[in-house]
Amino acid sequence: MDLSAQLIKWYQANKRDLPWRHTTDPYVIWLSEIILQQTRVEQGLPYFNRFLEKYPTVSHFAAATEDEVLNLWQGLGYYSRGRNMLYTARLVQELYRGQFPSSYDQLISLKGIGEYTAAAISSFSANEAKAVVDGNVYRVLARYYGIDEPINSTGGKKTFQSLADGLLDKNRPALHNQAMMEFGAMLCKPKNPACGICPVHLDCYAFKNNATIALPVKLKT
Ligand code: ADE
Repeated sequence: MDLSAQLIKWYQANKRDLPWRHTTDPYVIWLSEIILQQTRVEQGLPYFNRFLEKYPTVSHFAAATEDEVLNLWQGLGYYSRGRNMLYTARLVQELYRGQFPSSYDQLISLKGIGEYTAAAISSFSANEAKAVVDGNVYRVLARYYGIDEPINSTGGKKTFQSLADGLLDKNRPALHNQAMMEFGAMLCKPKNPACGICPVHLDCYAFKNNATIALPVKLKT
């Protein structure tokens, strides 16, 4: 079994039941991904529920005032995320008549949606074959393959994106991406990774070389 298949198997047995994993609505997935960008799942969850209740569609969101959005955002931090979301919601309302796009190329052109978010939304909502690379994925790949190129260097980003693209299970990109991220978040954690119960530790460079603390490498900026 390759790494993807092993992590998918682990994911299916161990995943958390999270509300945005029960939908293919690109708007709802967008909402969850922006909220979760600099926020932990436990903290973001109540915000996600409140936003979705108040704005069940992007058209509802687009009709909000900035004060309303920032009020709901209270406590999450990085308020530019809230402001960008309103901007994007209004743009989607105008450009796509309230149909939130699900293709990577349309998503990447929207404000506040970068490579990670475009890959997440297009894969989760439309099973587009785009590999997500977030902090979790960097950590899993750096440790498993023993890559010490800095994850925040230009070359490093390219290396990790190509590796992730190559690993992607093109028949089930949504499942693959969720599995990679969940595995990094729950098991291959930054501190105290659970190598003892890890299904791939025998093939993991960092485990074999006692290097989980040292990987991934991040340059001080
Ligand atoms: N963090 C960012 N995206 C996530 C997702 N889809 N599931 C769990 N945690 C996440």
